[in-house]
Amino acid sequence: PHVVAVIPAAGVGSRMQADRPKQYLSLAGKTILEHTVTLLLNHPSVSRVVIAISHDDDFIHSLPIIANANIDLVEGGKTRADSVLNALATLPEESWALVHDAARPCVSHQDIDALLAVMNNSNTTGGILASPVRDTMKRACDHGQASLISHTESRENLWHALTPQLFPTGVLLRALNKALSNSVTITDEASAIEYAGGKVALINGNPANIKITHPADLPLAEFYIKQTHK
Ligand code: C5P
Repeated sequence: PHVVAVIPAAGVGSRMQADRPKQYLSLAGKTILEHTVTLLLNHPSVSRVVIAISHDDDFIHSLPIIANANIDLVEGGKTRADSVLNALATLPEESWALVHDAARPCVSHQDIDALLAVMNNSNTTGGILASPVRDTMKRACDHGQASLISHTESRENLWHALTPQLFPTGVLLRALNKALSNSVTITDEASAIEYAGGKVALINGNPANIKITHPADLPLAEFYIKQTHK
């Protein structure tokens, strides 16, 4: 099957407290986005990469890799889900969309391979990379007492959702449209598929596939990238 990587990269990354969107911060000699795009383009099963970029993004055209014939840019939307929808609208309906955060440059080809195997499983709609929760999980009180514990959630069967997330393009497009038109909060592609009643496989991925979110994540990501490409 035809696999196209979709990279939502139209967010502002305010938690990073930097002067530019976080995917343009430099890591081991190139930007985070260049690491992520190169890694996906170099995967033998990925034929194309579509990147959703904010309309006022001043940085993207300074990256030499953007000239690559297998990269397309689309305009991002109000939320991550809108940005992904704009990218999906440019893909063939029968392709598979491998949606991956710009801010996860440490994913390995081995984990992508494990996820792609989901395409041969007729019992699931698609799948996501995920990692079992390690810490004890606390639910905080609401109503002005958010610094107090309400209770402890069982961490049995609890996973962190990572990316990439892989679904048939047409199925994901319809699920995202349905969720958005019903004002369902969508923070990843799988939530839309779950809402639409689909079955999503959890593929145990390496927790080194971190989403760069805070400044302290930068040296950690640099360490993991050097490990992966040794
Ligand atoms: O904010 P968060 O880290 O959850 O964003 C995840 C990804 O979604 C980021 O790569 C960000 O650039 C992207 N995004 C987007 N369009 C938006 C908001 C976020 O493409 N409107």
